[in-house]
Amino acid sequence: MIQTTREQFIRLFGKEPLIVVSPGRINLIGEHTDYNDGFVLPAAIDKKIVYAIALNGTQQCTAHAVFTNETVSFSLDKVQPTKGWINYLMGVVFQLQERGLPMQGFDCVVAGDIPVGAGMSSSAAVEGGLVAALDKLLGYGLDRMQMALIGQKAEHTFPGVKCGIMDQFANLHGKKDQVMRLDCRSLAYEYFPFNFPEYKVVLCNSMVHHSLASSAYNVRRQQCEEGVKAIRLKHAAVQSLRDASMAMLEEVRAQLDPKVYDRCAYVIAEIQRVQDATQLLQAGDLAKFGELMYATHEGLSKLYEVSVPELDFLVSLARQREEVAGARLMGGGFGGCTINLVKADKVDDYISFIQSRYKAEYGKVPEVYVTTIQDGVTVL
Ligand code: GLA
Repeated sequence: MIQTTREQFIRLFGKEPLIVVSPGRINLIGEHTDYNDGFVLPAAIDKKIVYAIALNGTQQCTAHAVFTNETVSFSLDKVQPTKGWINYLMGVVFQLQERGLPMQGFDCVVAGDIPVGAGMSSSAAVEGGLVAALDKLLGYGLDRMQMALIGQKAEHTFPGVKCGIMDQFANLHGKKDQVMRLDCRSLAYEYFPFNFPEYKVVLCNSMVHHSLASSAYNVRRQQCEEGVKAIRLKHAAVQSLRDASMAMLEEVRAQLDPKVYDRCAYVIAEIQRVQDATQLLQAGDLAKFGELMYATHEGLSKLYEVSVPELDFLVSLARQREEVAGARLMGGGFGGCTINLVKADKVDDYISFIQSRYKAEYGKVPEVYVTTIQDGVTVL
């Protein structure tokens, strides 16, 4: 893909580009915890966006997307929210301009194999890749965390999803065969080897993509904030659900909308689960780790209500199989993939089981991706 993207760039723009490879991500556990100052356990994967890019000495930016075979241009003095994939590029440019960093027009070809809307964070990959490319081309000297924060801000202001930092962080900090535990409050992180040759990380795509996912996401975030507000009236030191306990939540239960109570109960439990899961990972206990993944799914489905019947069905299929240590919906929810830890020698059996059962139930064959953990954004 790198080679064909480069060649296409040379055909379209007639010069040699800089190449940037920007991966998607998985998250083993810790869902909807990032914007609650909790912990996450993501990793960058082998699905990626590839940029071929060069400055053009004008005020004009032109981007050709291989996936839609579409070329779009915008001028640096008119960077404002719009529709479609170009919005992610413009969001990044806007945020760099906001910080007073020098900007110049550029040409790029964008290719990729991260399925859109599958919960593997193609948007963070588009954002992170462009920040890293412009950092290199214009010599900003940003560090990876600054780049991640710029990508996150771009997502908030242009597509308008009030996301946490997990996706942009994972995209820019990934390391081959390592998962990362990020403390989303302090932004401190640690790498842990994910060294289980007898298991594979298998993503099963429900092929469902809800257009309301981003507005529902923002509502979840507000509900968490509402819970914090109520708890803070009794416990002034509580800044976010990270600081709250189940006992504190119980104290204010009567004042809370039952939905808000459920959302907060899920998040408080999930923040703890990431801590427990990290210990199990270090101890090499994937069986117990998998049980926590199932518990996360249960919470996401019943309390946080970000699942859909298709995802619940995929997880119920996983539960029937001995070769699966654990499974759950991954990412924001309302569609996308489940993440499954599957015994390596049974992966083929598992895939045919999932595909035939899912087809029988929903009339469509889910795509399945057997992923590997890879480095984060790489500027070649
Ligand atoms: C999306 C967001 C992330 C995170 C997850 C849920 O991927 O972009 O910040 O909140 O959902 O864990």
